[in-house]
Amino acid sequence: MSRGNPYQEIEHGGPGRIGWRIHYFHELDSTQSAARDLVADGAAQGTVVVAERQTAGRGRMGRQWHSPAGVNLYATIILRPAIPLAEVSRLSLVAGVAAAEALSREAPGLVTLKWPNDIWIRGRKAGGIIAEAITGSHDDLVAVLVGIGLNINLAAADIPEELRGRATSLSIELGRLCDRIAIADSLFSFLDYRYMEVVSNGFGGIRPIWELFSALTGRSVGVVEAGRRVSGTVRGIDDDGALLLDTGSQTIRILAGDVTIEGAYES
Ligand code: BTN
Repeated sequence: MSRGNPYQEIEHGGPGRIGWRIHYFHELDSTQSAARDLVADGAAQGTVVVAERQTAGRGRMGRQWHSPAGVNLYATIILRPAIPLAEVSRLSLVAGVAAAEALSREAPGLVTLKWPNDIWIRGRKAGGIIAEAITGSHDDLVAVLVGIGLNINLAAADIPEELRGRATSLSIELGRLCDRIAIADSLFSFLDYRYMEVVSNGFGGIRPIWELFSALTGRSVGVVEAGRRVSGTVRGIDDDGALLLDTGSQTIRILAGDVTIEGAYES
């Protein structure tokens, strides 16, 4: 485990609050796997796992998450919400709002959210979120692992060939290095605030804030959902976190899928 934990200084609050305990590792296959083990050991809500480097970082849809050492933030937050399994994906939107708020402190006006789970700076991907549910023997929800990857000090030369032009980092966009611990601190504080808000008042209250950051609202997009491609104009998201797509003849709800902005690069 740790040879000195630089994230210990930002731990705050007691069990249940996001970031009350931060486990720090130099290298992991994935912070998601380490968090899963902690859940099995009974870790309280709000426990966080951070790694300097991941050897098998996991992205959405079975993709790899590029996780080099010493430059970015790779974190998994353990949540234990009393919600139905079907509502788990909303938590990744809540985390998206918190990540956008935290990055916006460094880069005001440059951060947007691309439904469902991408964090963009100046229109390029600088972060991503996954939410994995852990269920019990009766399909009951035991915990949710919210994984957040943020490219903070990743250099342009270290962006893998296949992501060039589509990925970026905070430091590339700002032209200076940024303090990862301070960004983690504001990320966990914003997530604590937004998550507690959703637990008390439901997702509906946070939807307009997500919309403020939306990169897609009003744009013409193509969506691939369950192997089928649909085109239309994005009208926003609904209180379930579904994307509202105006196809010209009707507005349909997209629950999961990959979105491409017409005329822009493939994401
Ligand atoms: C995406 O595909 O955009 C989601 C990427 C999520 C990456 C983060 S990094 C921390 C956590 N551990 C992982 O293995 N994945 C998530």
